Amino acid sequence: MADATYYVDEDVGQDIDTQPGDQSLPYKTLGFAVLTRGEDAKFMARKSLTGEVAEGADASARLEWKPAAKAAMKKAVNFAKAQKKKAGKEQEQLALRTKEEADRKKVLDDSKKIILEEDTSLPEAIKIKLDDTDSAKIKLGNGSDVKGTRVRVFGRVHRERRQKERMFITLRDGYGFMQVILSGPLAKTYDALTLTRETSMEILGQLMQVPEGAHAPNGRELHADYFKIHAGWKAAGGEDAITNRVSKDTEKATLLDLRHLTLRGETASKIMIVRDAVEFAFNTVYKELRMRKVSPPALVQTQVEGGSTLFKLGYYHEEAYLTQSSQLYLETCLPSMGDVYCIEKSFRAEKSLTRRHLAEYSHVEAELDFITFNDLLDHLEHVMCRVLEVTMADPTIKQYITELNPEFKMPERPFMRMKYQDAIDWLVEHEILNDEEEGKPPRPHKFGDDIAEAAERKMTDIINRPIFLTHFPAAIKSFYMMKDKDDPRVTESVDCLMPGVGEIVGGSMRIFDYEELMAAYAREDIEPGPYYWYTDQRKYGSSPHGGYGLGLERFLAWLCDQHTVRDCCLYPRYFGRCKP
Ligand code: 4AD
Repeated sequence: MADATYYVDEDVGQDIDTQPGDQSLPYKTLGFAVLTRGEDAKFMARKSLTGEVAEGADASARLEWKPAAKAAMKKAVNFAKAQKKKAGKEQEQLALRTKEEADRKKVLDDSKKIILEEDTSLPEAIKIKLDDTDSAKIKLGNGSDVKGTRVRVFGRVHRERRQKERMFITLRDGYGFMQVILSGPLAKTYDALTLTRETSMEILGQLMQVPEGAHAPNGRELHADYFKIHAGWKAAGGEDAITNRVSKDTEKATLLDLRHLTLRGETASKIMIVRDAVEFAFNTVYKELRMRKVSPPALVQTQVEGGSTLFKLGYYHEEAYLTQSSQLYLETCLPSMGDVYCIEKSFRAEKSLTRRHLAEYSHVEAELDFITFNDLLDHLEHVMCRVLEVTMADPTIKQYITELNPEFKMPERPFMRMKYQDAIDWLVEHEILNDEEEGKPPRPHKFGDDIAEAAERKMTDIINRPIFLTHFPAAIKSFYMMKDKDDPRVTESVDCLMPGVGEIVGGSMRIFDYEELMAAYAREDIEPGPYYWYTDQRKYGSSPHGGYGLGLERFLAWLCDQHTVRDCCLYPRYFGRCKP
């Protein structure tokens, strides 16, 4: 109503639609009043509690209504206009959305009527894996005169993209990726329109070269003529879609809880595939060296690497441990099998959360008979380099390693050999301090220190090449290590250090003299009883022998440039994590 008057009290008014806007129930803001009543009405305003009072007047002057000021009116009118415009837009958008939803529903309803039938007049499709490029059986069509081989592939939707009348799918089967194009009625089916990532599919079609300038795995794309999503093959969508459960921004702990899903990601799956190749390469290289593989027990009653990291468990009516290393068992195989190795799990109840410690890890261990310490170092260098050669000889694995670790270079031989004493001197020279003593300030390293992880890594990163660190003091090493004849303070022991990771191998010559071994048990407070079978090796034809253990996850962290060993095993186990 043009001549009606409305009231605004900025202190006690209320901006609600049911407000009459009269003197007893005024509005709170002029903007809202104008929006509700129109700019032609009259507006009176006041601030009944906080309004300014002229000098000499009393507080009741605040109760006086005054016509709204011109500037305030202008602002309020603009506000009302903007609000109206916004409301109009929202309405428009709502209408648009409603229409779109109706259209989509219609498209989906129509799509359900499209039933795909395989064209049986087409050549028979041959079943291939997605990385199969065998030119003897697969020909790529070129879009004009050459027809492509008709193939049948299976896999999961890694990515999908819609483009007008066509749909592009990147299919994944663990062997490789393939670009697939659905067009015509195929792209209009209900399954295509509602396709979710990770859905399993069976697709038939012709393999064609990708058009010039375009890129796709193996330079080819599958022009589908038929596809099928079998009952139960569809992956969850909406809220539950895999992209909502794992993404780049998901927290690390959640990613680990959802490891079964993160394993489908490109990085995780590449590492696992490289891992398979590396394990295979170790087997190959050990076979080349005529070494025999054995499988020692995981449930044991002896320790190898100190009591503090033993996992104890009840074993029927006795106590047992999860093995820390298969070394002692490997030693018992030498007399009858020659040089031996194993790739088994080792367990360490490590209470620290470092990036290179696991509670359960894969341990590549070998034991060699009738050797010298130098033979051991030469053998180790050969095995590590040859494993890399065999691994890199597979073009797919080489490509994965290059993608994961673009800086990777084959290590130069011979590896640097550095005595423990020289490492201590190096740390002192480079002012890398020992800050591991509880309650004591950092100090320069000295002989007898167990070089801590951080100091060791700093040194390895600065030297930036593989190092064989040798001759550790007996006091900081395990009971079974052979002492150096020329310096009985130290042992014939070796750690192999790699840039970025630190220690990946620990090895040594073993005490082969009966009396010396008994003395070593005593020194380390080990009750010799349970070790009778190990001690017996020194009674029945002892020999100079030695061996080593290599942490597979650490080797992989170095090879694939991963920050932590946790990303180099299938389902990592470490302090505080035993799932999934
Ligand atoms: O140096 P370690 O403790 O040596 C042994 O167990 C010997 N008995 C092996 C032998 O001579 N047969 O461990 C050997 C290697 C380490 O260099 C490291 O790579 C790996 O095993 N390792 C671990 N990897 C992951 N998590 C842990 N908690 C590890 N502890 C050792």
